[in-house]
Amino acid sequence: MLASAAEVLDATDNPAAALTLTGVACTFVSKDAPDQRYTAVQDVDLRVGAGEFVSVVGPTGCGKSTLLNVAAGLLAPSLGSVQVFGEPLVGLNRRAGYMFQTESLMPWRTALANVSAGLEFRGTPLKEAQALAQEWLGRVGLSGFGDRYPHQMSGGMRKRASLAQTLVLDPDIILMDEPFSALDIQTRQLMENEVLQLWQAKRKAVLFITHDLDEAIAMSDRVVVMSAGPASHPMGEFVIDIARPRDVAEIKSTPRFRELHAGIWDVLREEVLKGYQQQLQKVA
Ligand SMILES: Nc1ncnc2c1ncn2[C@@H]1O[C@H](COP(=O)(O)OP(=O)(O)OP(=O)(O)O)[C@@H](O)[C@H]1O
Ligand SMILES: [Mg+2]
Repeated sequence: MLASAAEVLDATDNPAAALTLTGVACTFVSKDAPDQRYTAVQDVDLRVGAGEFVSVVGPTGCGKSTLLNVAAGLLAPSLGSVQVFGEPLVGLNRRAGYMFQTESLMPWRTALANVSAGLEFRGTPLKEAQALAQEWLGRVGLSGFGDRYPHQMSGGMRKRASLAQTLVLDPDIILMDEPFSALDIQTRQLMENEVLQLWQAKRKAVLFITHDLDEAIAMSDRVVVMSAGPASHPMGEFVIDIARPRDVAEIKSTPRFRELHAGIWDVLREEVLKGYQQQLQKVA
């Protein structure tokens, strides 16, 4: 069911949006040929209510990570504006924690030291930072692994440590870029459920990027579909009216899940095909 603007407002029902992107465009200029420009995203309006879990899905290369970088304050948009809890964003978004698409653990630090690093950089006394980091390692199921270095951990364990690294800072907004895409399906479902439990307890605003429509529906209050690039923009917004708490594996077999999936896939399918064609053309 495609949500009307009014339904979307009802569903988020919170005037103090945690994150608002208005009319955002990002144009990249080629270093080698400055006259060559590529507008990855354009006319992007996106809102995440306080405590809301919003997923963005779209074809590869459409600009999902770009939007997250804009939300994090790592990339200034070429056009448009970003507001964080009603204030214009200037520089880094200090109310946001970012879980990157790529591995973000420091290889020279243990799991514990990776998780405590952000707190240490903030000036938290070392003992306190380590105690909090230990607590978070426990919450993500890594209690006994604090002294392991990233290369001594499995992919799933590294993702857990990255999650703890992000959440230990207690951000009001959590930005996650395909955090589980490299994981096997079982580990992935376990982690999705764990993230939902952690989120349910604290109810932070989440902007979650994924390729995986099942994952987007299972996790979110709302799913935003991006068009294929260039000038990618939201082209559909769907309220996920499935009760919580949810078990991501179980809800996939419910009629409502399948109905939502069919409705969203209807919009997404064509964009994925366009995105795929463009990738082929780039390679050719
Ligand atoms: N710094 C940059 N300079 C030039 N082009 C860029 C830059 N960052 C991104 N792009 C281009 O912008 C487009 C969007 O990239 P982005 O990484 O945001 O896509 P994405 O949707 O996250 O893709 P994926 O699903 O594969 O992770 C791509 O065509 C990419 O090549
Ligand atoms: Mg990306």
